Amino acid sequence: MNDLEVARRAARAGADIIRRAFGKATSAEWKGDANPVTLVDQEAETAILGVLAESRPGDATLAEESGGQSFEEGRVWIVDPLDGTVNFLHGIPQLAVSVALWIDGRAEVADIIDVCRAEEFTAAQGRGAWLGETPITVSPQTDLGASLVATGFPYDRNVHGRRYAAIMGEVLVRVRGIRRIGSAALDLAWVACGRYEGYWEFGIQPWDAAAGVLLVEEGGGRISDLEGDPHRLDDAAIVASNASIHEPLLAALHSA
Ligand code: IPD
Ligand code: CA
Ligand code: CA
Repeated sequence: MNDLEVARRAARAGADIIRRAFGKATSAEWKGDANPVTLVDQEAETAILGVLAESRPGDATLAEESGGQSFEEGRVWIVDPLDGTVNFLHGIPQLAVSVALWIDGRAEVADIIDVCRAEEFTAAQGRGAWLGETPITVSPQTDLGASLVATGFPYDRNVHGRRYAAIMGEVLVRVRGIRRIGSAALDLAWVACGRYEGYWEFGIQPWDAAAGVLLVEEGGGRISDLEGDPHRLDDAAIVASNASIHEPLLAALHSA
């Protein structure tokens, strides 16, 4: 089994657990004020890590609920077992499993499963990105004014909420529309396949972006930090786009 097949098997194991639990009453514990975790997050992570331990016993892991190793050296599987936990708690069918393999600080393979739509996005370094079996590319749109962009509000919004809102206001008057649907992994996957032209967020974690950044890059898009410099996986801020609208989107983000 190659690495992409392992990613797929692992992500599907997590998705099966979430699918069975979706729509049923679940209680949450809170990591901080606004960041929930449920038993389903933990069970999905256990299932994913189980597949990885069985298929790649020598590899390291970095997973949201159980932590792990730095992604900068060696083979590290980076796992968000349930991206969109707030949606999950509210029965909103926008949630994903995100599994990526990083080797020596570079993304190699990625798998994001949109659990409720049963869409599976994959990418492999230098080989492309796919939705199911079909190759995907970013949107050809060059006009920011005709672009649909997505964002997310990090869990520290109680501290920085007004700043996020001010920046969003500046973007809002320059684009066709803004979506905040609540799964960073799917936001990135949807940039990769051309549904969105862009996405930004200020407080994400490595597991939110580890698979999505490879999808965007292999789909022909661009990922940067807020300054337009190459994005590092431990950067809190991320800007993703189809490449064509990247500079005007950065300018809009800086205008607030
Ligand atoms: C969150 C979602 C959300 C984003 C947050 C993430 P979680 O992940 O991706 O869209 O705005 O920054 O933390 O907690 O549901 O895995
Ligand atoms: Ca997440
Ligand atoms: Ca999560």
